Amino acid sequence: MPAQIEPFQAIGVSRLAHALKAEGRSVIHMEFGQPSTGAPKAALAVAHSVLDTDGMGYWESPALKSRIARHYDEAYGVAVDPDRVILTCGASPALLLALISNFDPGDRVAVARPGYVAYRNTLRALHMTPVEIACGPESRFQLTAEHVAALEPAPAGLIIASPANPTGTIIGGEELAAIAAVCRERGVRIVSDEIYHGLSYVEPARSILEFEPDALVVNSFSKYFSMVGWRLGWLLSPSGHVARARAYVGNLYLTSPSLSQHAALAAMDARDELEANVEVYRRNRALLLEALPAMGLGAIAPPDGAFYIYAVVGLLSEVRLGFCKTLLRDTGVATAPGIDFDPDAGRRFIRLSFAVSTPQIAEALERLQPWFAART
Ligand SMILES: Cc1ncc(COP(=O)(O)O)c(C=O)c1O
Repeated sequence: MPAQIEPFQAIGVSRLAHALKAEGRSVIHMEFGQPSTGAPKAALAVAHSVLDTDGMGYWESPALKSRIARHYDEAYGVAVDPDRVILTCGASPALLLALISNFDPGDRVAVARPGYVAYRNTLRALHMTPVEIACGPESRFQLTAEHVAALEPAPAGLIIASPANPTGTIIGGEELAAIAAVCRERGVRIVSDEIYHGLSYVEPARSILEFEPDALVVNSFSKYFSMVGWRLGWLLSPSGHVARARAYVGNLYLTSPSLSQHAALAAMDARDELEANVEVYRRNRALLLEALPAMGLGAIAPPDGAFYIYAVVGLLSEVRLGFCKTLLRDTGVATAPGIDFDPDAGRRFIRLSFAVSTPQIAEALERLQPWFAART
């Protein structure tokens, strides 16, 4: 029987946001983790120039694979063979590829709750069983080695995300090392979603590869590199698994877009522009962390990275599905319902993405403040 999976509720909010915009309303998009900056200028310049010279056939860029491999050496001091880099159409298919080529239907794979909605849905789609670990404010909504050690029986796999969606919290080096050790001891294969690496405000996120060379790593050009619609990411697979993963690639989507690969190679060296984006997010984060608690939004674990704030809406005992749509209709500020990330406790939460400009954050706060004040 086909697996039943739930839709991403934030998509419904976004549809409404676009409909309101089409009616002439001013909308601030804080519902998706989508940088509003667009691809770095150097990436755009390369894209324009190769359109005239490249036939855009099926292609996997050797230069991009080598550049990504070099990044692991530079950022984490980890040596990676470029052959282990499998280019994908974003982190989403990289996750699918990691799961389908390493686990069997029926396998149990542990994930944090709250967590990115696609983890449990992709697992279900593959007839695997998500084992959701409820993570609360005491662990800053993150998984710990203790959680993993307590799972009975041991799952076949574990998905970790640091920085995480929806909270932006990071798993520190010591805890990552402890998680790697307990997984090794219990035979649990780790899939590490590192899509928010580069977006850190406190300490740089550590890669699982520093602690577990056999982990699978998922990453993308969608977030730090600000290239969401270019649909490009990668899976880093242990050498012994590469051939199996590539067999899936050849049958499922052949290659990722050639144009995006050319542009992404240039994006990897556009550090100044990308770091300037991070500075904007840093200011946005500070503005929100200062203003939201006064509006009755609580239980916030200040995000170490990514560009999200996950907060309890104090004025209601439950954020019903319609809450984000009402908020959007009344204020023009689009947010994501917490139920996407946690079907249980998430009912009381919303997630705000601050991957917009600082004037937009200031405007959003001006609209939200009186709205919440009128209801407290
Ligand atoms: C944690 C996480 N992983 C993966 C993805 C998928 O990103 P993409 O397919 O655009 O690379 C997202 C998107 O928001 C995400 O938040």
